Amino acid sequence: MHVSKALIGTLSMAATFLAFSVAARAEGEVNIYSYRQPDLIQPLLDAFTKETGIATNVLFLDKGLVERIQAEGANSPADVILTVDISRLTEAKEGGVTQPVVNETINKDIPEHFRDPDGNWFGLTSRGRVVYASRERVAQDDITYEELADPKWKGKICTRDGQHSYNIGLFASMIAHHGEAEAETWLTGLKNNLARKPDGSDRSQAKAIFAGECDLALGNSYYVGLMMTNEREPEQKEWASAIKVLFPNAQDRGTHVNISGMALAKNAPNKDNAIKLMEFLSSGEAQKIYAEQVFEYPVMPGVEPSEVVKSFGPIKPDTLPLAEIAANRKKASELVDKVGYNEGPQD
Ligand SMILES: [Fe+2]
Repeated sequence: MHVSKALIGTLSMAATFLAFSVAARAEGEVNIYSYRQPDLIQPLLDAFTKETGIATNVLFLDKGLVERIQAEGANSPADVILTVDISRLTEAKEGGVTQPVVNETINKDIPEHFRDPDGNWFGLTSRGRVVYASRERVAQDDITYEELADPKWKGKICTRDGQHSYNIGLFASMIAHHGEAEAETWLTGLKNNLARKPDGSDRSQAKAIFAGECDLALGNSYYVGLMMTNEREPEQKEWASAIKVLFPNAQDRGTHVNISGMALAKNAPNKDNAIKLMEFLSSGEAQKIYAEQVFEYPVMPGVEPSEVVKSFGPIKPDTLPLAEIAANRKKASELVDKVGYNEGPQD
């Protein structure tokens, strides 16, 4: 019999994974494939096990989650997928590794614009794509994304790679709101205002503001909390204290947000337990624990974020359905290439 190397790889990884299940209790278990770091989700999973007696097994992956489940096929042990970003949730749906969930409890807890119309994915927490502004050099406390293309910011803005999914989400939302032509003009304007070639992570942009290389940057809201509380790399606290968080478009449509979310795996062997876990994760109580852990916002209106996050001020999320943003991602990516965004400022 011919057995491919890839298959052997998959089988041995599956064996490793199943070894985690030995401790499963009589109440059963649920298998989670996660792009989120285990320590971020463990407190939640512990609370779930305490409440239900259902054991949880986590397989953490930093890439190739969809391909992994595809390769495992009908025998995949995956029950629930946990990930961040609408792009990855959409990838999972389009890769055929999810199945729809129509569940009253979950749908009541998660606002419509934060879930897939067909029930293939659900948002749990949200993060704003905000503007980091120099406390020293930027007087204004209000801003819009549109304004970032205003020549008054020439040479003042830093961002990471235009093709990064965080930027693609924002650019896709600009296309959804303004149409492709206007979005192109805007993105060209933003590119011309860059202080340097797009580079680094969101945190590097805060560092660049701290170093005086730029006055404004695009970044996700939770990184500010992560920098403020970073004991391992305390210099990040200084980067955070050099910036203030501006929530773009607070006076009109609201700030672009993305989500962390969950999906039911296509062939979930423990489907009942998986649904129980998904109901648990969608509850306001769980959203609060999760959001506090990761410095994000619970998607359920009225559930408060952590004190650190509250210190940034209130967020008004753009209610454009995330599915619509997902639908414009490809166009956004093409636009980034078309305007030569990653080449940086021209003169
Ligand atoms: Fe991130």
